[in-house]
Amino acid sequence: MIQVSQLAKIYTTGAHPVVALQDVNLEVKAGEFVAVMGPSGSGKSTLMNLLGCLDTPTTGSYKLDGTEISTLGDTGMAGVRNRKIGFVFQNFNLLPRTTALRNVELPMLYAGVDARERVKRATSALGRVGLADRVNHRPNQLSGGQVQRVAIARALVNQPAILLADEPTGNLDTRSGEEIMAIFQDLNRGGATIVLVTHEREIALHTSRIIHFRDGRLVVDERVEKPLDAVEQLKSLGSPDENHSRIGDMTQAAKPPGDVPYAQTISGDDNPRGEAR
Ligand SMILES: Nc1ncnc2c1ncn2[C@@H]1O[C@H](COP(=O)(O)OP(=O)(O)O)[C@@H](O)[C@H]1O
Ligand SMILES: [Mg+2]
Repeated sequence: MIQVSQLAKIYTTGAHPVVALQDVNLEVKAGEFVAVMGPSGSGKSTLMNLLGCLDTPTTGSYKLDGTEISTLGDTGMAGVRNRKIGFVFQNFNLLPRTTALRNVELPMLYAGVDARERVKRATSALGRVGLADRVNHRPNQLSGGQVQRVAIARALVNQPAILLADEPTGNLDTRSGEEIMAIFQDLNRGGATIVLVTHEREIALHTSRIIHFRDGRLVVDERVEKPLDAVEQLKSLGSPDENHSRIGDMTQAAKPPGDVPYAQTISGDDNPRGEAR
């Protein structure tokens, strides 16, 4: 599905060129669940931007389902993003004054899906991430974990072949992080290909493969023999609310301490570049 060869990305925006990625060779097959790890500045986000068709490499090749992405041009890349890719980023902003439902509808609006179908699919996606009873909440009325689940629902509505997640649990407490991983594992078992950046090994161990970056190079490609099962992990954490039945469907009252409020994870930008997807 993903074929990357001799990929390099050199940023020339500053006074000195920065080699963000070099000599990267990588193949990800359909249905794989891959974690990307590495120190800050090692090129993880740059890789995600390239895989997500948000940017083009300086040299090298990236083929997605056999199509060489660098030959597509901006419009072609936008089309691929809309049809094939779902993004979940750590601070991949939702519109703050807009309900969960409307936020999730947005990608379908760009894809030209009609209004009734949009509501139907958005409602179903929110149900799938355990937020059926939060559709009319705005982001600032939700916990950090819930906001991230809205972002996952939004990434899902166009039924992308690939989900790209850049530190999706980075701002969350342990339980909320496990809940997010439970959703990703569920989606992966349903056939989704997922590439997820994390700096926590504990999170990476929920996937079946960990690729490690250092100084822009892919240095280790590691198999995870027995991935951690997030649902099992959640059980061992104990339940903060005996009444909640769905994965991670927390009530505000049961919100654990340390759950980062939405306001801390978002910028004031009401129209981030991601919204045009
Ligand atoms: N838009 C950009 N312009 C210039 N340099 C950048 C840009 N984005 C990232 N970099 C640089 O590229 C390197 C890799 O960054 P990044 O991919 O964000 O790393 P990571 O996500 O692993 O922390 C860093 O040295 C960073 O400063
Ligand atoms: Mg990064």
